[in-house]
Amino acid sequence: MASMSIVFFLLFTSFIGGRAVPKQSSHIALGSSLSPITQPTSWLSPSQKFAFGFYRQGSGFAIGIWLVSGDNTTVVWTAIRDHPPLASNAILVFTEDGKLLLRTERGQEKLIANATDSASHASMLNSGNFVLYDKDSKIIWQSFYFPTDTILGGQTLFAGYQLFSGLTENDHSTGRFHLKMQDDGNLVLYPVNTGDTPGDAYWNTETFGYGSKFHLYLNKSGSLFIVNGTTLNIVYGLNKDSSTASNQNNAIYRATLDFDGVFRLYSHVYDESGYKVSKLWKALDNPCHVKSFCGFNSFCTMNDDQPYCICLPGTDFVDVNHNSLGCERNFSEAGCRVGKKNASFYDITTMENLMWGDRPYVVSPMSIEECSRSCLEDCDCGAALFKSDSCMKQKLPLRYVRRDMKEGYTALLKVGMRSIKSDNPIMAKTPVIVITSKRAIVQIFLVSLSCTVLSCVALAVSGLFIFKSRVLWYKRLLENGNFGLNEEVTLRLFSYNELKRATNGFKEQLGKGSFGAVYKGALYKGKRLVAVKRLEKLVEEGEREFRAEMRAIGRTHHRNLVRLLGYCAEDSKRLLVYEYMSNGSLADHLFKAQTSPNWNERVRIAQDIARGILYLHEECETSIIHCDIKPQNILMDDFWTAKISDFGLAKFLMADQTRTFTGVRGTRGYLAPEWQKNTPISVKADVYSYGIVLLEIVCCRRNIELDVSNEEEVILSTWIYKCFVARELHKILRGEEADKTMVENMVKVALWCIQDEPALRPTMKSVVLMLEGITEVSIPPCPATMSE
Ligand SMILES: *[C@@H]1O[C@H](CO)[C@@H](O)[C@H](O)[C@H]1NC(C)=O
Ligand SMILES: *[C@@H]1O[C@H](CO)[C@@H](O)[C@H](O)[C@H]1NC(C)=O
Ligand SMILES: *[C@@H]1O[C@H](CO)[C@@H](O)[C@H](O)[C@H]1NC(C)=O
Ligand SMILES: *[C@@H]1O[C@H](CO)[C@@H](O)[C@H](O)[C@H]1NC(C)=O
Ligand SMILES: *[C@@H]1O[C@H](CO)[C@@H](O)[C@H](O)[C@H]1NC(C)=O
Ligand SMILES: *[C@@H]1O[C@H](CO)[C@@H](O)[C@H](O)[C@H]1NC(C)=O
Repeated sequence: MASMSIVFFLLFTSFIGGRAVPKQSSHIALGSSLSPITQPTSWLSPSQKFAFGFYRQGSGFAIGIWLVSGDNTTVVWTAIRDHPPLASNAILVFTEDGKLLLRTERGQEKLIANATDSASHASMLNSGNFVLYDKDSKIIWQSFYFPTDTILGGQTLFAGYQLFSGLTENDHSTGRFHLKMQDDGNLVLYPVNTGDTPGDAYWNTETFGYGSKFHLYLNKSGSLFIVNGTTLNIVYGLNKDSSTASNQNNAIYRATLDFDGVFRLYSHVYDESGYKVSKLWKALDNPCHVKSFCGFNSFCTMNDDQPYCICLPGTDFVDVNHNSLGCERNFSEAGCRVGKKNASFYDITTMENLMWGDRPYVVSPMSIEECSRSCLEDCDCGAALFKSDSCMKQKLPLRYVRRDMKEGYTALLKVGMRSIKSDNPIMAKTPVIVITSKRAIVQIFLVSLSCTVLSCVALAVSGLFIFKSRVLWYKRLLENGNFGLNEEVTLRLFSYNELKRATNGFKEQLGKGSFGAVYKGALYKGKRLVAVKRLEKLVEEGEREFRAEMRAIGRTHHRNLVRLLGYCAEDSKRLLVYEYMSNGSLADHLFKAQTSPNWNERVRIAQDIARGILYLHEECETSIIHCDIKPQNILMDDFWTAKISDFGLAKFLMADQTRTFTGVRGTRGYLAPEWQKNTPISVKADVYSYGIVLLEIVCCRRNIELDVSNEEEVILSTWIYKCFVARELHKILRGEEADKTMVENMVKVALWCIQDEPALRPTMKSVVLMLEGITEVSIPPCPATMSE
């Protein structure tokens, strides 16, 4: 009987609540307090539908607002949500001076509502809003303005605000997804910690571009809108004549970003048996479409209407109890790094219709077999996507992996053949041997003995050799001071006066580059010609850093790089001494009709330059980005070998790598588009510049030439692409004899190199392979339209 009357009372009050609007509120006076275990544990709304106070959370308690129902599991707001669970002796006080405070065991206090003024009373409203009033009964704080994962009927998510999902169904601390009401008017779902780029978004209302302050509003009868003062976009509109309509007055609506990353709209309709919960709407039908629902290297699949995460081949769950945290490799790659690229350590497994989010670090045209081999041999390659002769290699970890039937990609995944333990290079060298017979022991003994002896001999021999060569070197040095003519091991440190003398007071200028002027000089009594570069406009650089840098450059030795012989670092003076290149720069030859090299020579020069850049990028101790590849920086020695100069110097100008940097160079035509944007510069910037140089080599003209008969020929790259598409490449050669397929091949490589999107450009390694005709070159897309 008693319970019936309570139900009646509840129905009655909620009926009133639904119709006659405001000003029925619970009055919470200053000095009130709550405790997790002794009454009162919460303050109820007049309707008794919402409560503010302590609720159970994990092993302890949390503070929040919930819908009072059977087990109180519908929590709609949480205070200090990332605070660890509270102990049972915590206490929530509404202090006499008008602050809402949490006091924990050690006497620590935490503000629950950060109102600017002190409050005079508080109230748990029927709407589910908890508010603080000042002495004039003006609202100075309300929970509706600080939503956590839910908005209730009548609540607004303002522009610039967001909801964060809970961690799990029952843990309301901050989880892995957020819903952002963006300033551009769009409502978007993203995984957290991603940067919120369009590529990270997995759902949006497409209501962007209005440029005015829109907000998300859930009205009291359960319709969800994106509105500003005048315009309204319906996200979800409740059908008036639906079955729930009759119960509308009893219904409570809430829109919650659930822990699984799906934004859902619920109704809670009260009847005699309690609340009936219905899901009215959800942002995504398939929870597997939530990006990052499964972590790195795993993908989501539906089973029994439930999403599950599955690890990619070669990986295991990071934490078997939390499958959504992603997967990690169950084999070690150490073997790859120490040079054992032998494919027997790894294998490739293929999976159809798989897709992932990040862009590949290299895209090259090849067959699927070549693609697998290329990935196996490349330590950076964790997986590759293959589709119609295009191989897209990717580093691990893989984000946003998904099943995708439409795209039709085949995924090639690197898997380990051995377990982590035996693949460890140290373990591999000292295998555990179970000795079964005496003969085996003797054999092992003999083997190790001979190894020891051999290595001793080798050490002695090499020691002797090093000693001898050292002695010889010093001897020669003493004899005629002529070490400049032999292959010196170390860089020489010059004094300024020495170089002044060598260049005859910097008399003969050979040229002027981005870093300063270059002078001709002679060392060792005129026996060796050198080029002395006087650096200008350097970033303030300590002498020690400069020397370290010089040593690094000095260690690079390659046929296609200009040798650095020594340097001078005195006070603020910085000079570099290079070998002298007797035949000038590539620019001198390409752009002067009388001297331009013939086709075969140009092919060779193009390959030389590519090999030099490849060495800088991949083969010297630390990868060097040149940053200024152009024909003026390619020099020709006595034998017409092309050599790259000025490498390793970009570092000195890096501190202001923005406008001034490009200004200093004044060679815009060769700069990759990323220099103009604010994106990081990688080796791919050199690939771009190389592509332009390659086109210039093919055509023997500058990238930009105003003095041309036809306007469309002004920009070489644009013109060549046009000719290429129109199959009219013969035009660009102006009647010169050349192998047609070879011309086309070089043009294709160049067009790949000058793609706006760095990821689409090949690595220098693939460039070399393509130029040498070892790998096929696929049809390049238009260089400029690839940018976003
Ligand atoms: C639900 O919350 C209300 C209000 O605090 C409380 O009276 C009731 O005991 C709670 N129910 C359960 C099962 O904890
Ligand atoms: C209260 O805290 C919120 C963030 O939790 C902050 O945005 C707001 O500015 C704070 N208000 C005051 C008055 O400190
Ligand atoms: C909520 O919006 C719907 C659709 O526009 C409308 O029919 C309904 O009257 C609104 N309810 C309230 C309480 O304003
Ligand atoms: C609301 O957005 C519309 C464009 O959709 C715009 O014309 C209007 O000025 C905006 N109203 C306000 C109050 O910002
Ligand atoms: C790789 O190793 C296997 C056996 O360990 C050997 O037979 C094969 O020749 C090696 N391949 C290369 C390319 O080194
Ligand atoms: C790695 O895991 C896969 C499946 O998860 C398994 O088939 C493979 O044998 C494992 N590899 C190693 C080296 O443990």
